[in-house]
Amino acid sequence: MRLLEIEDLRSYYGRARILHGINLHVDEGETLAVLGPNGAGKTTLLRSICGLVTTEGVIKFRGERLDGMKTHDRIKMGIGVCPEGRKLFPNMTAEDNLRLAAKSDECEEELNLVYDLFPRVKELRSQKVRNMSGGEQQMVAIGRALMSNPKLLLLDEPSMGLAPIIIGKILDALRRIKNETDISILLVEQNVHLALELADRVSVLVKGEIVREGDAKDMKDLERHYFEI
Ligand SMILES: Nc1ncnc2c1ncn2[C@@H]1O[C@H](COP(=O)(O)OP(=O)(O)OP(=O)(O)O)[C@@H](O)[C@H]1O
Ligand SMILES: [Mg+2]
Repeated sequence: MRLLEIEDLRSYYGRARILHGINLHVDEGETLAVLGPNGAGKTTLLRSICGLVTTEGVIKFRGERLDGMKTHDRIKMGIGVCPEGRKLFPNMTAEDNLRLAAKSDECEEELNLVYDLFPRVKELRSQKVRNMSGGEQQMVAIGRALMSNPKLLLLDEPSMGLAPIIIGKILDALRRIKNETDISILLVEQNVHLALELADRVSVLVKGEIVREGDAKDMKDLERHYFEI
């Protein structure tokens, strides 16, 4: 079943068009990675789904049109977002950041899922976020996106700025979300390795257009062709 369906999406900042007619979908239980270089429009794509930029075209979630809906109504329908740069409250504790994102005060089940996925966050739950490492903060940010019980998890470059060993831990947790829950994932990344390890399908976004798409297993050459470091 289609969970998210995007048709001919065009997105704008003022008069500047950033996305030029994107088509993509995420099925229930599926993980889609959108790979692209700096400035390709990856964040703009996620912001379009959340209703944070001006768009034309169709965005459907669970069969309903999202375009035209307010951001908080879209989130309520079952979209969890882990934004670029994490956007946590640095002077609050990890647990308070998590609780703030829950639908109600009764959120022990959601908290337990997050603590089960990220034991390190459980250890540090009473610490202020500003005293945590980048990797630990990223774990809190992913956890926070899970607190509203989403059907679809949007992840904006969870690997950004992290050492390979920490990226490995994030990947393990994302794999568990994929394999042990019914949450679908739309991941945007520049890290080809992480994306290919996690995703079922991959779309490559360059300058606001999808230039290639297919099964992750058929995309092994991407590492060499696209984002050479
Ligand atoms: N608020 C804004 N106002 C005007 N232009 C913007 C704004 N935000 C982004 N852009 C432009 O839109 C284009 C796509 O930006 P976007 O942030 O979506 O790229 P990205 O793929 O997420 O890049 P990165 O990998 O660096 O995060 C860029 O050319 C950028 O300069
Ligand atoms: Mg971005």
